[in-house]
Amino acid sequence: MVCVLKATTHMATLFFQVHNYTASANTLAAQASCTTQKMADPSHTYLYLGVALVSLLILLLSKRRRSPEALRLPPGPWQLPVIGSLHHLAGQLPHRAMRDLARRYGPVMMLRLGEVPTVVVSSRDAAREVMKTHDTAFATRPLSSTMRVFSNGGRDIAFAPYGDYWRQVRRIAVTELLSARRVLSFRPIREEEVAAMLRAAGLAVDLQSAVSALVSDTTTRAVMGDRWKDRDVFLRELDCSLRLAAGFNLPDLWPSSRLAGRLSGVVREAEKCRDKVFGILDGIIDQRLQKAESGAGVDGEDLIDVLLRIRREGGLQFPLYMDAIKAIIFDIFIAGSDTSATTLGWAIAELIRNPKALQKATAEVRHAFASDGVVSEAALGELHYLNLGNRETFRLHPPAPLVVPRECREPCQQVLGYDVPQGTQVLVNAWALGRDKRYWPDHSREEFWPERFNDGEAAAGVDFRGVNFELLPFGAGRRMCPGMAFGLANVQLPLASLLFHFDWEVLGLADPADLDMTEAFGITVRRKSDLLLRPILHMLLPSLDSSGPPILHTAAILAPLPLATAHRADTSSDDPYEIDVLPMCVASD
Ligand code: HEM
Repeated sequence: MVCVLKATTHMATLFFQVHNYTASANTLAAQASCTTQKMADPSHTYLYLGVALVSLLILLLSKRRRSPEALRLPPGPWQLPVIGSLHHLAGQLPHRAMRDLARRYGPVMMLRLGEVPTVVVSSRDAAREVMKTHDTAFATRPLSSTMRVFSNGGRDIAFAPYGDYWRQVRRIAVTELLSARRVLSFRPIREEEVAAMLRAAGLAVDLQSAVSALVSDTTTRAVMGDRWKDRDVFLRELDCSLRLAAGFNLPDLWPSSRLAGRLSGVVREAEKCRDKVFGILDGIIDQRLQKAESGAGVDGEDLIDVLLRIRREGGLQFPLYMDAIKAIIFDIFIAGSDTSATTLGWAIAELIRNPKALQKATAEVRHAFASDGVVSEAALGELHYLNLGNRETFRLHPPAPLVVPRECREPCQQVLGYDVPQGTQVLVNAWALGRDKRYWPDHSREEFWPERFNDGEAAAGVDFRGVNFELLPFGAGRRMCPGMAFGLANVQLPLASLLFHFDWEVLGLADPADLDMTEAFGITVRRKSDLLLRPILHMLLPSLDSSGPPILHTAAILAPLPLATAHRADTSSDDPYEIDVLPMCVASD
């Protein structure tokens, strides 16, 4: 606000100065010509010319002084023409390079990615200013060239510009699509899919592929039901979309350049992917509409049913057209699948590398469910150590290390005293915050040590639900992740079940501490290498649900285990779901 006032005052001053000087110059010129004619005194001519020149100089200087350089922009490394600061990021993953740069230039740092001005925020206080104090000023998002295609021009939730439309779709997400009740209604799907994954484990398994398949199958069934053709094509095209949406594409670095757009071809590829995905969705939606017309009731609504019902009921400020429905479904896959699978991969890898933590977590799960013989989702909240482990995984490995970009939507906003002009992209480096020694003084901050969150330790009470700005795996504020309960459910049940039923050994490594933890570049930052493990059966496996065979994935199986004696999962429990829904998730304005 102060900044806007300053800018307005500057403009007003400049306006008056320009007018005054122009007027004086005109007057002087007129007087000069008049006087020249009347008196023809050369000394007067020089005087008037001198005054005119000085006025012009003052005008130019004042213009210079009041140009954008007068803003107090955040510091940053030197820039090159055309590529801006990109050369400072070469050779490292962006969140790592930005952390190193921030150590030199401070917690609010200015970069130019190609031609895009970008502010990177790397301290708890600065993150609080962006996501809480000035939340509305930073509540919109830049729309990349590929996301523009996938979101049908921002008709989804994640990339809709801040405003009434976004408020409406966000409310639908929070109250209908991703509410605690809805997440709970998908519990049988999760239990069947986890049972299928456990039973598909062979003598050796790539656990990263297995959990990725698990999460996409669970999400697919929750969104569009059990059986439909083209499922494999759909998942392949989604994968392609995720690949295209990740990374720095030429048109996003030089948005004003038509050449960059033409050279890259990424938009054309994105359109092809989108058309295939949307074509398949059209088929599924048509079937549902026909079913609804024929009067057949919907038993057990999936998310497509929910969206079509909301559309039918009407009464919305913005009618829910099909292009919006498809963009929202696309969003749920893009925002929901990879994030959960990435978290699961890191959680398992960290436990395997840290035998003491693995032993504690395993003992806790086995003790809690020994008498049932199966992990019950309703009781997962009681697993104290495993929940600390989840927090520690999010601290070290937030799946979206730079959160999701925000953009300054006000003429100028201040962060820690620096001016951030309108249109600047803002990145919060959640990965750097999770490893900053100022906030994590105990033990080694690079080490996986869930005990740091225990009562009496420095990080006791630090949580990931958007109130502690040093731990931001789900972001914070108005644009915070509305799918947190869904995501946590996708992580907790499989993780506890893997520990309950199996002991795990790393293949080909004498010391599990040597497990490769290199990060890969992508829309989420997952482990680069496979997670090849040998499962050793400890407890009989749950059976597959007889009411409808879940989808079995064979990609992860290297050699199948002989089927263990069936043990039915109890899915009839009425226990309340443990995961809270944050009031903060609801758009509040
Ligand atoms: C471990 C799992 C997950 C993580 C770590 C995660 C993380 C995030 C983050 C960091 C943001 C940006 C928040 C911000 O800008 O402040 C976000 C936004 C979002 N997430 Fe998630 N997410 C997860 C699971 C899910 C799931 C399962 C869904 C849906 C099924 C989902 C849907 C969304 C949507 C729609 C947004 C955009 C919200 C908006 O812009 O208003 N997420 N998520």
